[in-house]
Amino acid sequence: MKPFFLHPSCSILFFLVTFMISTYVFANDYTNCNNTYSCGTIINLTYPFWGGNRPDYCGEPYLSVSCESDVPKFSVNSVTYRILGWDMKTQNLTVARDDLWDNLCLTSYHTTTFDGTIFHFDNNLTNVTLLYDCRSNNPPTGNSRSCSDGKSVYYALGSSGFEYCTSVFVPIFESQVGTVSGNINLISQALQVGFGLDWENYDECNTCMDSGGVCIVYDGKFSCCKDESSCPGSGNC
Ligand SMILES: *[C@@H]1O[C@H](CO)[C@@H](O)[C@H](O)[C@H]1NC(C)=O
Ligand SMILES: *[C@@H]1O[C@H](CO)[C@@H](O)[C@H](O)[C@H]1NC(C)=O
Ligand SMILES: *[C@@H]1O[C@H](CO)[C@@H](O)[C@H](O)[C@H]1NC(C)=O
Ligand SMILES: *[C@@H]1O[C@H](CO)[C@@H](O)[C@H](O)[C@H]1NC(C)=O
Ligand SMILES: *[C@@H]1O[C@H](CO)[C@@H](O)[C@H](O)[C@H]1NC(C)=O
Repeated sequence: MKPFFLHPSCSILFFLVTFMISTYVFANDYTNCNNTYSCGTIINLTYPFWGGNRPDYCGEPYLSVSCESDVPKFSVNSVTYRILGWDMKTQNLTVARDDLWDNLCLTSYHTTTFDGTIFHFDNNLTNVTLLYDCRSNNPPTGNSRSCSDGKSVYYALGSSGFEYCTSVFVPIFESQVGTVSGNINLISQALQVGFGLDWENYDECNTCMDSGGVCIVYDGKFSCCKDESSCPGSGNC
């Protein structure tokens, strides 16, 4: 016996009903994006993040935020970041690498990149370079710490790659440079101050929220929903 859902006309009907149900639900649920996400001292996270009672369409698909021991975290390009500061109005997003939070040793080497995302580095940053798995007897810098397995991490201020090491670049605020250049061992503290990011759609989203709307991502695109008819996917626009 042929299952009914394989019959072409039934499949089309099934598809249409599913499509109508999903658009109906979406048109009524976009107001969920008015919910904010709070964790520890970071309160009222909105677009571009989703998580908790903010469904996935309330933020960029890859920016799901979770709360671990009162610290909000998200992952981008294989690196998990802690959110240290957030202010939607002033576009303040301060983050720090979770894997380097209290330890300069790493087991997997991922540099700090937001390529392919809506994030951009703030202008007041400078890099520190961490060097791992150096395949030379000449230390690349004078500053190092021992890690496990007899390995070491070398570090320096600035972006200085060495071809015989694996380089990981991490931004710090320029305001930390004086401290770190005075005492390179304070690099861990500088990493815990974090660095700033700005993000695309910032003006659009603030304008949207100021006018009583909510920011959503529909079909991979940023949109502003003020009411059902202005909301993409409602079938009314
Ligand atoms: C967080 O959101 C709530 C509810 O909208 C609001 O009452 C509160 O003032 C907000 N707090 C901050 C710091 O923005
Ligand atoms: C941005 O957030 C960080 C971390 O909370 C804070 O230290 C900094 O003062 C904030 N900057 C502005 C301009 O609000
Ligand atoms: C860095 O610049 C951003 C704006 O681009 C500003 O909000 C932030 O306060 C600055 N932070 C420091 C530590 O200078
Ligand atoms: C830090 O290094 C990364 C990777 O090379 C680079 O994209 C970024 O522009 C550098 N940032 C600064 C402030 O030099
Ligand atoms: C979102 O909440 C604000 C403040 O509570 C309200 O003015 C606005 O109408 C709400 N927007 C939507 C789309 O529900």
